[in-house]
Amino acid sequence: MPLTIGVPRETFAGEKRVATVPDVVEKLIKLGFAVRVERGAGDAANFADDTYRTAGAEIAADAASLWSSSDIVLKVRAPSNAEVGLMKEGQTLIGFLWPAQNPELMQQLAAKKVTALAIDALPRTLSRAQKMDALTSQAGVAGYRAVIEAANAFGRFFNGQITAAGKVPPAKVFIAGAGVAGLAAIGTAAGLGAIVRANDTRAEVADQVVSLGGEFVKVDYEEEGSGGGGYAKVMSEGFQQAQREMYAKQAREVDIIITTALIPGKPAPKLITAEMVQSMKPGSVIVDMAAEQGGNCELTEPGQAVVKHGVTIIGYTDLVSRLARQSSTLYANNLLRLTEELCKTKDGLIDVNMEDDAIRGLTVIKDGAITWPAPAPKVAAAAPAKPATAAAAPAAKKGGHGHGAGAPMSGSSLAMLFGGGALLFWLVGAFAPASFLSHFTVFILACFVGYMVVWNVTPALHTPLMSVTNAISSIIAIGALVQVAPPLEAAADGRPSGWILGLAVFALVLTAINMFGGFAVTRRMLAMFRK
Ligand code: NAI
Repeated sequence: MPLTIGVPRETFAGEKRVATVPDVVEKLIKLGFAVRVERGAGDAANFADDTYRTAGAEIAADAASLWSSSDIVLKVRAPSNAEVGLMKEGQTLIGFLWPAQNPELMQQLAAKKVTALAIDALPRTLSRAQKMDALTSQAGVAGYRAVIEAANAFGRFFNGQITAAGKVPPAKVFIAGAGVAGLAAIGTAAGLGAIVRANDTRAEVADQVVSLGGEFVKVDYEEEGSGGGGYAKVMSEGFQQAQREMYAKQAREVDIIITTALIPGKPAPKLITAEMVQSMKPGSVIVDMAAEQGGNCELTEPGQAVVKHGVTIIGYTDLVSRLARQSSTLYANNLLRLTEELCKTKDGLIDVNMEDDAIRGLTVIKDGAITWPAPAPKVAAAAPAKPATAAAAPAAKKGGHGHGAGAPMSGSSLAMLFGGGALLFWLVGAFAPASFLSHFTVFILACFVGYMVVWNVTPALHTPLMSVTNAISSIIAIGALVQVAPPLEAAADGRPSGWILGLAVFALVLTAINMFGGFAVTRRMLAMFRK
């Protein structure tokens, strides 16, 4: 019997998002599930009940009927006490649950004997988990919206202009913390034409800042800022002092500051002091994206936009909800990918497989037993252990794409290969004409060099690199052209026979497809990065 996925209306004050959208409903139904959506669940995100109905969902009249008839409940925010009261044994709940911050909720859910999947507990560094990474998708929306809020409160253009009515200097924006949200803010502000600077304690993000059009401003103090898993750590007092000096200088120079600095499990670092706010030009704007975790600015009032010392300080905690249609769509897609992982059989049933690193990480309660925190995942994309995997992966890898060139061969099979090769050469040398032997040797060497060249390219680089510098295609093209072109001394016996000509033309056609196709693919890939 296929399971029913239920999507209630979010009850948290000011929450406008919804956990699924009509497009995703269709895909959930294709996976074999029945989908029920509470009446008005998508209203605040501009998804009317009718659009869900058209997509194939049933509309439940109220929360009680929705919760009681659903096997799996998709939510955005953690359930309220009233919602937990509506839950039933054996139900599966998926949403932002924040187990570390909500120990009481964890106990309540365990008592209800449900299974709970906290999307925020996903091991984000697993490359396979990226499609389910709702923290990233939502932080990207928040970063974008923070810039839009800043632009709204700021009294000038972002881009510099020279007009008949006067010269407008470009706005200067400083971004504190260049994680997912910070990088989205850098890209958005740079896109609007501002001069963007950014700082982060993790030095490795400097290149990303530059690639998005920003300038990385360093703190004049040597200290490693990574606390593991791509996250930051609390810095030493010496670093903090040096950082404060740099931030004070930036505050005097820039028009807008957007702060995004967070350290998991710790209050947000206080980076912008009251004196720094006071030193900013009148009309400047601060958007404190860390407001909910205590704020990066001393004068932030969470949830409010206030004006202090002539500076507008925005501490909204619902930035993502202010772009509810977009954030709901991205979130719904993240949950769809998770549902696909849970339902590989596409039969409307789920398997919470605790052997799977990604699923294990986000399963915080399994059938009433608290399983949080999960042990660290075995493989992390952030730290690829290339030599180790090559050594550990035996010949089994060779069958597929063949990128396992590093797999060692046993001594006896190597000897057999060499023996066979030597015998073949002896036979060719003994019986074939002398000219054939030299061509054959070149052919074998070419195969070997070609194999080494192609197989040693990192798979990720195959399309962009190989499509442009396809040396093998050019060699084939030249060889075929030599065969097809008329010989210089136009002697009739210098022409290749008909079938060689045919083969050469065929090779030309194939290699042309490869070369021009390569250029076309590269063009398309580059176009993805152009605006
Ligand atoms: P976050 O929201 O916890 O922190 C935001 C940023 O604030 C971080 O870049 C952090 O370094 C910075 N920060 C903390 N204290 C600071 C201070 N005192 N001064 C200046 N900056 C400070 O982190 P977020 O954005 O959720 O993720 C951070 C990083 O995690 C990403 O940039 C990425 O490297 C990694 N990550 C990796 C993923 C993957 O491998 N698939 C997926 C998601 C994140």
